Amino acid sequence: MKNNLIAWEVSENDFPKNGTAKEKLEFFVRYAILAPSGHNTQPWLFEVNEDEMCINLYADRTRALPVIDPEDTELIISCGAALQNLITTMNYFEYFAEVDFFPSETDNDHLAKVRPMIGYEPDSTDKKIFTAIKKRHTNRMPFSDDKVDGYILEKLKAAVSEEKINLYIVEGEDIREEVIKIIEQGDKIQAANKSFCRELAQWVHPNRTNSKDGIPGYAFGMGDLISFGSPFFIGNLNWGDIQAGRDRNLVKGSPVLAVIESKNNKPIDWLHTGMALEKLLLRASSQGIAASYLNQPIEVPELRTRLKELLGLNGYPHLIIRMGYGKEVKPTPRRDVEEVLK
Ligand SMILES: Cc1cc2nc3c(=O)[nH]c(=O)nc-3n(C[C@H](O)[C@H](O)[C@H](O)COP(=O)(O)O)c2cc1C
Repeated sequence: MKNNLIAWEVSENDFPKNGTAKEKLEFFVRYAILAPSGHNTQPWLFEVNEDEMCINLYADRTRALPVIDPEDTELIISCGAALQNLITTMNYFEYFAEVDFFPSETDNDHLAKVRPMIGYEPDSTDKKIFTAIKKRHTNRMPFSDDKVDGYILEKLKAAVSEEKINLYIVEGEDIREEVIKIIEQGDKIQAANKSFCRELAQWVHPNRTNSKDGIPGYAFGMGDLISFGSPFFIGNLNWGDIQAGRDRNLVKGSPVLAVIESKNNKPIDWLHTGMALEKLLLRASSQGIAASYLNQPIEVPELRTRLKELLGLNGYPHLIIRMGYGKEVKPTPRRDVEEVLK
């Protein structure tokens, strides 16, 4: 396994049952860093505090994406997904996770203090969901025609609503077609925006990259040769029409198209959105269901308003997700746990 994929080799058998508190807490962080993040920036830092027996989660804003995410919304959502992995892992190892959100009055990068408390009894669902942390990967490939059972969708909606977040399923051919058109417009607007392209090009790497962050071309379905030129193409060619056509086909062939929205639009809501996202993805993955994102309309303000009006949403849409059954895809790189420990 390549050096930058080694984080995925973490095994539950390595849990330091008889180790120190520090060793146990650091072990939990090894699962947190497998969470998804915008452009795979991994914008998080963890501080293991042995005295207080807790893990502090911080936003690492040096990894922000100022062009597509000027308010750091997706950055905080990504941290929320990592936080959910932390909680899921603690539960699996028989700890409740007591979470204090935004515990500092002065430091708004300090997103959460998480304290494991002994006595949690994981059931078979907790176990399946924990196992899914290593199985979950963003799958940007076409899905099969197999439908997702309504009962499973209800379970996914329920998991998201535990965080007071709404999973809106886009239904009806006409409405889906309108959403596809908005996504296509998003592709074209973003591809024509030089700043957007420059920012993306910094985070897309050739397949054989040794980089421990960013997205290797294979995650977009690129072969080795094409992936080698991808940072250049993204930064210099107008690829909007090609991407729009590709996204149209992907969405058309996806059994589920959904939007994740929060009621309010503050950092605490973004954090819960990230937790809800990871709950959704892990539950889906544990059922063999893959997902990927089409967030372009969220990242272009006028399209976000159009999407909201089209679907009659009362809240703030943050993520557009397609789901279905697909072939397995490869994991993407992660930084070593030592690099994210404060
Ligand atoms: C908040 C957020 C927004 C994302 N937006 C997009 C997106 O618009 N398009 C996309 O292809 N992937 C998107 N992703 C997926 C990331 O690129 C992906 O999580 C990252 O590259 C790591 O890969 P993995 O999910 O396979 O581990 C997003 C992920 C998060 C958490």
